[in-house]
Amino acid sequence: MNIIVINGPNLNLLGEREPEIYGDETLEELMLWLEKSPLGSGHSFKFFQSNHEGEIIDFIHDERHWCEGMIINPAALTHYSYAIRDAISSVDIPTVEVHISDILIREEFRQISVIKSVCIAQISGMGKNSYIEGLKILLKNTKAEF
Ligand code: DQA
Repeated sequence: MNIIVINGPNLNLLGEREPEIYGDETLEELMLWLEKSPLGSGHSFKFFQSNHEGEIIDFIHDERHWCEGMIINPAALTHYSYAIRDAISSVDIPTVEVHISDILIREEFRQISVIKSVCIAQISGMGKNSYIEGLKILLKNTKAEF
């Protein structure tokens, strides 16, 4: 399966950004770990991180014919980006929204996701394992409960 993994604003600083919340591994380490995990092997990945909403939208458009599944951690864009939401619903690609921290028990503004309803699942609060869980769901392509 061809899979794109997108990480939004400030996730390039993983490892040094609030490690008590987001852990001490870098984004590069985390993405490599996902790709090389037993679940990831045998699949093709393209990874993309941007601090800019429009670049994320362009990437989704550019990869829409290549990819068969998408894992996205939209970071803060989760909570307000209708443009990212529309980009996901504009392409017919099963998408899982993932978060490292548990957005449902953090500040009120983080508990809202405008992305969730265009995704097949939302995984939150499992640390880096959120990405593995996201991949699992994508591979099964089941409509998970959330
Ligand atoms: C995050 C949670 C968001 O609320 C936050 O803005 C992030 C990271 C997470 O992975 O836990 O940047 O998406």
